[in-house]
Amino acid sequence: MSQTRKNILFGLSVAFLILLLLVAPESYGQKKENTPVSKITAKVDSLLTLMTLEEKIGQMNQYNGFWNATGPVPKNKNSAEKYRDLETGLVGSMLNVRGVAQVKAIQKIAVEKTRLGIPLLIGFDLIHGYKTISPIPLAESASWDLEAIEKSAALAALEASAAGINWTFAPMVDISRDPRWGRVMEGAGEDPYLGSRIAEARVIGFQGESLSDVHTIAACAKHFAGYSFAEAGKDYNTVDVGTSTLYNTIFPPFIAAKNAGVKTFMNAFNELNGIPSTGNSFLQRTLLKDRWGFEGFVVSDWLSITEMVSHGYAKNDKEAALKALLAGSDMDMESHAYRNHLAALVKEGKIEERLIDDAARRILRLKFELGLFEDPYKYCDVEREKAVIGTQQNNERVLDMAKKSIVLLKNKKKILPLDKEGLNIALIGVLAADKTSPLGNWCIAAEEQSAVSVMEGLEKYTKNKITYSPGVALDLDENKADTDRLGIQNAVQMAKGKDIVVLVLGEHGLHSGEDKSRATLDLPGRQQELLEAVYKVNQNIVLVLLNGRPLALNWAEKKIPAIVEAWHLGTQSGNAIAQVLYGDYNPSGKLPMTFPKSVGQIPIYYNYKNTGRAWSQKYTDESNDPLYVFGHGLSYTNFSYSALELTAPEFDSKGSIEVSFVIKNTGNYTGKEVAQLYLRDLVASVTRPVKELKGFELVSLQPGESKKVRFVIDSKTLEFYSARENWESEAGTFKVFVGGSSKTQLETEFLFNK
Ligand code: BGC
Repeated sequence: MSQTRKNILFGLSVAFLILLLLVAPESYGQKKENTPVSKITAKVDSLLTLMTLEEKIGQMNQYNGFWNATGPVPKNKNSAEKYRDLETGLVGSMLNVRGVAQVKAIQKIAVEKTRLGIPLLIGFDLIHGYKTISPIPLAESASWDLEAIEKSAALAALEASAAGINWTFAPMVDISRDPRWGRVMEGAGEDPYLGSRIAEARVIGFQGESLSDVHTIAACAKHFAGYSFAEAGKDYNTVDVGTSTLYNTIFPPFIAAKNAGVKTFMNAFNELNGIPSTGNSFLQRTLLKDRWGFEGFVVSDWLSITEMVSHGYAKNDKEAALKALLAGSDMDMESHAYRNHLAALVKEGKIEERLIDDAARRILRLKFELGLFEDPYKYCDVEREKAVIGTQQNNERVLDMAKKSIVLLKNKKKILPLDKEGLNIALIGVLAADKTSPLGNWCIAAEEQSAVSVMEGLEKYTKNKITYSPGVALDLDENKADTDRLGIQNAVQMAKGKDIVVLVLGEHGLHSGEDKSRATLDLPGRQQELLEAVYKVNQNIVLVLLNGRPLALNWAEKKIPAIVEAWHLGTQSGNAIAQVLYGDYNPSGKLPMTFPKSVGQIPIYYNYKNTGRAWSQKYTDESNDPLYVFGHGLSYTNFSYSALELTAPEFDSKGSIEVSFVIKNTGNYTGKEVAQLYLRDLVASVTRPVKELKGFELVSLQPGESKKVRFVIDSKTLEFYSARENWESEAGTFKVFVGGSSKTQLETEFLFNK
C-alpha cells in the first residue's frame, strides 16, 4: 500500500474514533463494567452512519482461517482474495483462527489497515473444551449436574479466550431421538426439559456475568431449527415435522438459550417442512426476532446459504443470498454469497438497505459488548495464554466432570467396584490403550494422544496385575473390518483364568460427530465377536463402553455382568474410568437418551404418545421396551423411594402445589441419586406424552440416610403449545410420577382448575 493511502486511512480512523468519543465520551477507557445498552446503541448507530454499504455488508461476511497469519501475504487465489477483503474492511468475522499469535496478526489487519478499524469476531467450535478436553456434551448431560456443566463451559471459555477466541459456535441444543445421527454426541439428548436446563447452563457458562470480562466469550445456540430430526438419521437430510413436535420438543431449548441471554443463533443445513432453515423467514424473522424478541444475530451454517441452490430453493448464489437475507440470516459463514451479491441486490432495489443496517447493527453491537472497540487485542495476551491453558487445575476440573458423566448400566453380581489389590486383570480392547479416541470428535485444538488411556488409569490407581491384549483393530471405515484371527485368539488365551476381564469396546471418537451417521448401532468391526469369544472362557467381565451415541447391545445386556457407559470423556478419560471401576467414585450418571434394542425401534424415546390402540401397538419381531430407558443409571448403593405426597389434591392458575417424597440410601456406599419428577396431562386439546420430565434434583446420601425431596408445580409447569397455538396450561387431571429413571417407582394425581 502506498504511503499516501496509509496516511489517508490513518486520518479516517482517527476521525472515526473522535466521532465515537463525542457520542459517548465517558465510556471510553472503562473496562469490566457492562456498558449500558443505550450507549452501545448510540455508538453502533453513529458508527453505521460512517460506513459504506460495502463495509456494512463486510461485517456480515465470515471467512474460515486461510493462511498462516504470521507469515507473508498468501499467494493462492482464494486466500489472496480473502486477504484483500480483510484489508479493505469486507470481513466481519473469522473462524478457526486460534492462538494469540494468529489472532493478533489477523486482528491487526482489521484494526490497523482498514478504513474504519473495526475489530473482528473470532469464532470457534468449543464443543467440549479448547485444549483441555471435557466429556462430549451428551456425556456431560448424563451427569444431570447443571452446576458442573456450567463450570465446564466456563472452563472452555477460559482457555479459548486466552487463545484469542471471543465467540463460540456452541451450545448445540438440538433435541434428538435418533442415535443413528452422529451429532447426538454434541447435544443434551432427547428431552426438551433437560435439554433446556442444560442449554441455559452452557450459555451462562460461556458468557458468564459480563461479556466484557476477558474470561468470557459469546455463545451461539444452534442449529435453528429441526436439524436433529433428519430423516433416517442421515446427517443434513430432509426434516418434516408437525407443529406439536416443533413447538413442544424442538423449540424449548432454543427459547431457554435465548432467555439465558445467548448472543447469537446459528441456522441449519436442513430444510424444515419444505423450506431450508437458512432461508426460513418464519423461523428467523417471525419467531426468533419478532415474537421471541431476540436482539442478537444469526450466523448461517457453513456454506448453508449457497447450499440452498442444491436444495432447489434458489436458482443461483445470488438468489440464495437474497432469500437468506430476507429470511433473517445476518452473517454468511464462508459461502461468499453476501460479499458477492448483497450490494448489487440493494442497488437493484431487491433488498432495502435498512435490512443490511439491521444485520450489521446486530453484529456490531456484539463487538461493542465484548469490549473489542475499547481493546481489540484484549484476548491476545501471550502471558495469559501460557498461564491459563492446559493447567493442572483445568485437568482436575475436567476429571471431575468426567467422573460425573459415567453411567453404570448394569452391575449384576456386584462385580463392581473392583478390589484395588490382589486381582489378576486381563485388559482387552484396542480402545483401552488409545490416547486419542477418548477425546471424542470436535476437539480441534486438542493435541493428539493427550487423553489418559483406560490402561494408564487402571495402572495408576491399583496394585493389581494387569495384562493387556488389543483384540481386534478398529477401522474408521466400518466396511474394512479387521480379518486377523490372531488378535481374538491372543485375547482369549490371556483372559483364561484371570480374576477379572475388563473389556474396553465401543466406537472410535471419530465414529460419531458431523457427517457420521450409522445405519447400525452394533459394536463396530469385530468387537462383538471378540466379546463373545472372551465370554466363552471367562464370564467375569466388566464391559467399559467408549462411544458417542446410544448403542444396541442386546447380547451384552443378557450375558455380561457389569456394563459401564463411559462415552468419550476427554483428556482425563482413563483416570475417571479407573476411579469409578475401583470405587473411589460412586457413579451417579443417568442416561439422557434411550438406548434401543434394535435400529428398527428408532425413533425411540420415553415421552412418546399413546395411540388409539396402545394394546396392539407393537412389532412382531421385537418388544416395545428399549434396552435402557431414559434416565436409567445405577449406583454402587441402592435408593428407595417412598411417601409420595401432595400438599393439596387440586389447585388453580393462581396457586401451586408441592410434591414431596422421601429417598433413602438403603445400601452400603455413600451415593448420589438423580431424583426425577414426571407429569402426564391426561386429556388436552392436543394429545400429550405418556410422561414428561418436569423436574430433577441431585441428592447425596450416606448409607441409611434419607431425605425429603420437594418440587413445586404451578400452571407454568403445565404449559404446552395448545390447539389454540398458544403456550398455555389446560384444566384437567394430571398424573405425577417420581423415581430414579423414566421407569418411575411412585405415582399419584392432582386436579388443575384453570
Ligand atoms: C457445523 C457447525 C459448525 C460449523 C463451523 C458446520 O459444519 O454444522 O455446527 O459450527 O461447521 O465449524
